[in-house]
Amino acid sequence: MDKINNNRNFMKSNYKEMENIVSDQMKNLPQPPLEKEFDDNCEIINLIPIEEIKIEKDNLIQNIQNRKSHRQYKDIPLTLEELSFLLWASQGVKSVYERNNKSYATLRTVPSAGSRHPFETYLLINNVTGLEKGLYRYLAIEHKLIFIRKLENQSERIIEATLGQKFTGMAAVVFIWSCVTYRGEWRYNIAAHKAMLLDAGHICQNLYLACEGIKAGTCAIAAYDQEKVDKIINVDGENEFSVYLSPVGKY
Ligand SMILES: Cc1cc2nc3c(=O)[nH]c(=O)nc-3n(C[C@H](O)[C@H](O)[C@H](O)COP(=O)(O)O)c2cc1C
Repeated sequence: MDKINNNRNFMKSNYKEMENIVSDQMKNLPQPPLEKEFDDNCEIINLIPIEEIKIEKDNLIQNIQNRKSHRQYKDIPLTLEELSFLLWASQGVKSVYERNNKSYATLRTVPSAGSRHPFETYLLINNVTGLEKGLYRYLAIEHKLIFIRKLENQSERIIEATLGQKFTGMAAVVFIWSCVTYRGEWRYNIAAHKAMLLDAGHICQNLYLACEGIKAGTCAIAAYDQEKVDKIINVDGENEFSVYLSPVGKY
């Protein structure tokens, strides 16, 4: 019961407690980067800018009405244009806001508390035209992808890491969102964590709606093995760890 009570308390606001806390931002400590750094030697893939994407844009009501979780996918590839659209819809950067001549915040297609946007998007690509299977990361500010590595037994590993949910291994691509916690903590200290999880919901909802726009389906996943998913995306599990997944495929 103690554990349940603790977890319930985590759902509540602790902004009042924040009155006695001096955040790292208030201490003038340096702001963490808006995006995880990447090695210039990585293979970089250009994505299609939203202005050039030819996807029907005026069916929002229909997309909201049709939205549902899809757990069966056809063996049909996604195009790079479709993947570009899904990445833009879920984490796309519309502008970078400057303060004191430094990049201070990104403004994106989804909201985020204090515009901290603490997430990185990893993709486990299985069936996207023109892209090798393997692990990739979205560079949201640049709207590009980096190829990270190939994975042996990719489908089996993601099925195992999602506790036997077989449809994750059939998807054209699995979106895996990690949280780089200090991006939120720098500003909000102990109030960051609840807000960051709320942020994640917006990302996945936009993915659901965007998927409807391209006759693809997705299904939010919170039931997964923390260590196994973190190992797949190769993060330390402390300063950065997975929080949410969503496989995508054509239906
Ligand atoms: C936070 C969250 C976690 C979820 N985790 C899983 C999951 O691990 N496996 C799964 O099959 N569905 C999962 N779902 C999907 C829900 O089961 C689904 O949204 C619900 O049954 C309602 O169906 P609908 O999305 O088609 O309206 C999750 C949904 C949310 C929002």
